[in-house]
Amino acid sequence: MPDPHVAAVGTSPFGRTELTGRDLFSAAVAEAFEGGPDPAEVVDAMYVGNQSESYEHQIMYGTLLAEWCGLRHVPSERVEGCAAAGALALRHAVEDVRSGRRDAVLACGVEKMTAGGTAGATNALSAAFDRALEQRSGVTAPSQYALLAQRYLHDTDATERDLARIAVKNHANAAANPRAQFQRETDVETVLDSDYVSPPLKLFDCAPVTDGAAVVLVANADVAARFDDGDDRPPVRVAGVGAGANNIGVADRNLTFVEGAHEAATEAYDEAGVEAADVDIAEVHDAFTISEALLAEAAGLAPRGRGYESALPPAERSDGWTDTHLSTSGGLKARGHPIGATGLAQAVEAYEQLTGTATPERQVADATTALLINEGGVADAVTVAHVLTT
Ligand code: COA
Repeated sequence: MPDPHVAAVGTSPFGRTELTGRDLFSAAVAEAFEGGPDPAEVVDAMYVGNQSESYEHQIMYGTLLAEWCGLRHVPSERVEGCAAAGALALRHAVEDVRSGRRDAVLACGVEKMTAGGTAGATNALSAAFDRALEQRSGVTAPSQYALLAQRYLHDTDATERDLARIAVKNHANAAANPRAQFQRETDVETVLDSDYVSPPLKLFDCAPVTDGAAVVLVANADVAARFDDGDDRPPVRVAGVGAGANNIGVADRNLTFVEGAHEAATEAYDEAGVEAADVDIAEVHDAFTISEALLAEAAGLAPRGRGYESALPPAERSDGWTDTHLSTSGGLKARGHPIGATGLAQAVEAYEQLTGTATPERQVADATTALLINEGGVADAVTVAHVLTT
């Protein structure tokens, strides 16, 4: 079975930009292929993660972006799964290469979220909830995650201050990440003093609205070798993939244990032949600070009820925690959350960490194993996990 490698990665700037979706995509492709072969020489297929046509009144993003980067006759399709769309695109690319059917597949994600302002993004995101049961009662993404946070604060020793510490850590990481939307640090008091969006979640507990694109070229070893620039970087393999799901509605869910993410991470660990304790860095889907705590637990990085300690240095966390560094990119919280591109932006961070090319301030020494968890809908309605190793 061919071994899928991450051959090349690229992103656009993240944040509020003047760029259209296709221009964001162009920026990401230009970075990925700079100094390497032309896309037309190597790309056999494309998958494009994209949440909503409402931002730019555009579907057919697969075909459009293939044409836009000179791949007119290359099969390309849009993948939809709300915020998990990027990891779904990555998973399809990995499976195509593993099967031997394709030598190199471009996994892409793009979202032009700011086109309709915060109200437009809130409305577009609410389409991820069940129309019959939840949308019509006026729920939003922050209010859905606030339910999880309320239950978590009720059931555990965690406080709003603990969640604030997660935001502070992720802003500090983002300040060291040139790709990040918020390249500024913050402090606990600023987070706690920020306005409630949906209690207990405040402005700084939330991921922002973000324009952005990211691409990851998944290739077999022969094609990946064509991108070797002689810098002696270790090859990065996609060693494990996992997927999970849950109800679309939160009504009948375990609110404090993200079962779908647990299943996805476990499957990815098993495929890769690793355990949670082996994970050096994890990019988990911290759309809200509570999510980082919940996903640390679901992935077995933290003991149940203690995921909120993710911002503490490993030596100060409770027994049962691994030494994993979480959201070294700044996470969705501060690197930014361009919905369809997020799962691929996570892979870009893992690639930089595993190849030792992250900025020195956030580089984790000797990182060899990375976990990615990307979710769509509320928490684990759709979850995809990848394990990348050197
Ligand atoms: N964290 C920190 N600061 C933020 C922020 C965030 N999430 N979102 C916006 N800001 C800052 C802006 O930079 C701006 O600062 P400035 O005045 O210094 O320039 C200020 O807050 C106002 O920005 P604005 O975009 O007008 O904020 P808003 O009130 O319209 O939107 C949220 C804030 C939190 C409601 C919006 O970002 C949001 O809806 N986030 C959640 C997105 C989401 O649900 N994603 C899907 C998850 S599954």
